[in-house]
Amino acid sequence: MNPSKPAAAAAPEETPTATRDSLSITDNRTGRKYEIPIKHDTIRAMDLRQIKVKDGDFGMISYDPAFTNTASCISRVTFIDGDKGILEYRGYPIEELAEKGTYLETAYLILHGELPTRTQLEDWTYHVIHHTFIHESIKKFLDGFHYDAHPMGMLISTVAALSTFYPDAKDIFNPDSRRKQTYRLIGKMPTLSAFAYRHSLGMPYAYPDNDLTYPANFLNMLFRTTELKYHANPTLERALDILFILHAEHEQNCSSTAMRGVGSSHVDPYSAIAAATAALYGPLHGGANEAVLRMLVDIGSVDKVPAYIKGVKAGERKLMGFGHRVYKNYDPRARIVKHIAYEVFDVMGRNPMIDIALEVERIALEDDYFISRRLYPNVDFYTGLIYQSMGFPVTMFPVLFAIPRTAGWIAQWEEMLLDPEQKISRPRQVYLGAARRSYVGIDNRS
Ligand code: CMC
Repeated sequence: MNPSKPAAAAAPEETPTATRDSLSITDNRTGRKYEIPIKHDTIRAMDLRQIKVKDGDFGMISYDPAFTNTASCISRVTFIDGDKGILEYRGYPIEELAEKGTYLETAYLILHGELPTRTQLEDWTYHVIHHTFIHESIKKFLDGFHYDAHPMGMLISTVAALSTFYPDAKDIFNPDSRRKQTYRLIGKMPTLSAFAYRHSLGMPYAYPDNDLTYPANFLNMLFRTTELKYHANPTLERALDILFILHAEHEQNCSSTAMRGVGSSHVDPYSAIAAATAALYGPLHGGANEAVLRMLVDIGSVDKVPAYIKGVKAGERKLMGFGHRVYKNYDPRARIVKHIAYEVFDVMGRNPMIDIALEVERIALEDDYFISRRLYPNVDFYTGLIYQSMGFPVTMFPVLFAIPRTAGWIAQWEEMLLDPEQKISRPRQVYLGAARRSYVGIDNRS
């Protein structure tokens, strides 16, 4: 159905039968009846436009601040059942991908719709790994940042700067160009992130090592010092790879919406990824992992948890790492993350903050405030503890979310570009401002 073409109104005297896939609406202002088609339990907002009081009216629109009940696209990438706590990429349960897959295999799945064959995976891995180097001028760019610049600010800026190095990326409707930018983006995001980290420490940049796996190479660029060859601890390498799988995609969240919205103006993908990364930076989204760690430090000890929760219930603050727009049950990613935490602690030693986190979770899950609002731990609740144990400073936590999410952003962007129903993103508003009035000269203003 063409969304710009409203369905014909039913004749006023017609009474729709109960078996039709349609919604009957009576406009009590006029007494007119309308029959709106239903498909996939959804009506088209444009079908409301025919509802008018008089000819010449604009017609009815729907009001949905923060898009809590509005689908802005048809997607085939990720399925979430928030009530049941189900997350699937292209139909594969997150638990199976986390247990059996790798991040690069998962990124391929998200982008291509199918798991790769062995040859496809080798080819994909080769191309990603061979696009990890960044132009030397980017280093000069990074050098301009203050020593305590937040790495997310550096990542947003440097990924945007990549658009100036690859003007071919503007050719967005060319599949070969899109593939090339995909290799570059997935290959270079860890390098930009690691270089931002090294800059903040004042350490020389460690270049990519193409012999290493995707997560091991990232650890190499972050942590290599004088050794000629970096060897990642296999438990930490696998833990990071699983965390990357869990963060790879999450349908129409704030940053994917930014990616689609900005990309819908047909800007190059580097600029759109910079916008998506900026959206992820906020503490209500990907910045929550950083905020959780700061909260746990703030709480300080297990005995202070009840008082902190009391403050949350009194509306003084939010419990970071809790609640989700779509999960009204335990976030399936949080379950897996909690398990990984203990594996990392076995290698790096127990993070003492885990006891505070467990106490927060225990009290919250028994408390009516959280039960009645269906607030459960989300993916960010335990990730910070793992990252901290692995040696990352808190400011790097959102960066560790942005790297893997790049695959999801590109998949959402490409799906948007190739969807003939999509156009430049442009919501409506309900205007309640001043009525038309005449300009008042500055001497006559009160
Ligand atoms: N702590 C305390 N109360 C909360 C929290 C929380 N973390 N989250 C929601 N509520 C309350 C909220 O105040 C509201 O209460 P009331 O009905 O009395 O007004 C009720 O629960 C419903 O919340 P909401 O604000 O309508 O929920 P939302 O869907 O708009 O917000 C959220 C979702 C994730 C932004 C929110 O839960 C939140 O701010 N959580 C903390 C930040 C966080 O952990 N974000 C990471 C999300 S997971 C990673 C990702 O995908 O981005």
